[in-house]
Amino acid sequence: MSRARNPDTRASGLESGETSDPTDKGPFAKLSWIGGNVPVSRTYSESYYSIGGGLGETRHVFLAGNRLPERFRSGFHIAEIGFGTGLNLLAAWKAWVDSGQTGALLYTGFEAFPVEPDDMKRAHAAWPELAEYAEQLIRASQAGQSRILTDSLKARILPGDARQTVQNWTGAADAWFLDGFSPARNPELWEPRLLQAVAARTRPGGTFATYSAAGRVRRSLKAAGFSVIRLPGYGRKRHMIRGWLDPVARNAQASRPAVSPETLDRNDLA
Ligand SMILES: C[S@@+](CC[C@H](N)C(=O)[O-])C[C@H]1O[C@@H](n2cnc3c(N)ncnc32)[C@H](O)[C@@H]1O
Repeated sequence: MSRARNPDTRASGLESGETSDPTDKGPFAKLSWIGGNVPVSRTYSESYYSIGGGLGETRHVFLAGNRLPERFRSGFHIAEIGFGTGLNLLAAWKAWVDSGQTGALLYTGFEAFPVEPDDMKRAHAAWPELAEYAEQLIRASQAGQSRILTDSLKARILPGDARQTVQNWTGAADAWFLDGFSPARNPELWEPRLLQAVAARTRPGGTFATYSAAGRVRRSLKAAGFSVIRLPGYGRKRHMIRGWLDPVARNAQASRPAVSPETLDRNDLA
């Protein structure tokens, strides 16, 4: 199963010697492709998901990691940091419908660099089983809509830097998909302050899951009030983490001064 070069990153799309350009950020994501239809960010030099099986990874990490579909119930709300191609949304939406839920799954995605509709289409072509859901996402995206409103899904994609948009979000999620690029290349999506905002916007009993098992991410999520456990990762990835909001830890966290990011970095043993 081909996947990450570094255990915490997904595949790099750059030839050796080529460097990423952090100023190369436009309104839409700039992509190159591996194997025909796996998108790679030219800005972050990393694939959007496992090149060994994006849908398998989504189901292992984000669905099973949040104990879905078992926890689905009326009014269930998923929030995702790093909407990207929408693969995780499509897989969750299908799981919701297949689980026999009536009513709509609620979903909020946070994304700073949207993927163009034609690029989404190219990525989605890898998963015929998601086609009926993908078509609806593509239609909304082609129409420039940031919402998908159907009988089985009420989704909203909030544009902008998640460090601000999550802070401004007044909702609360039952399950978080934390799917930024790797902490080494996209550290802003793993900052302690953002993860604290995630915890503060998690419903009682709510959970998160992520493919990253980096020590500083684990410690930041614990400091934010989650109980965190490490599990086998997808494919060749050794570990992933999942967690649930621990009300005692969360209350203690809320009454403590914020832990400085420097402290967390110095103690990083990962
Ligand atoms: C690994 S990809 C997400 C893959 C996605 N979940 C999918 O299903 O295709 C990470 C995403 O985070 C987004 N991102 C990076 N930095 C961000 C930021 N500061 N705020 C919001 N989104 C950001 C990237 O544009 C990219 O779409």
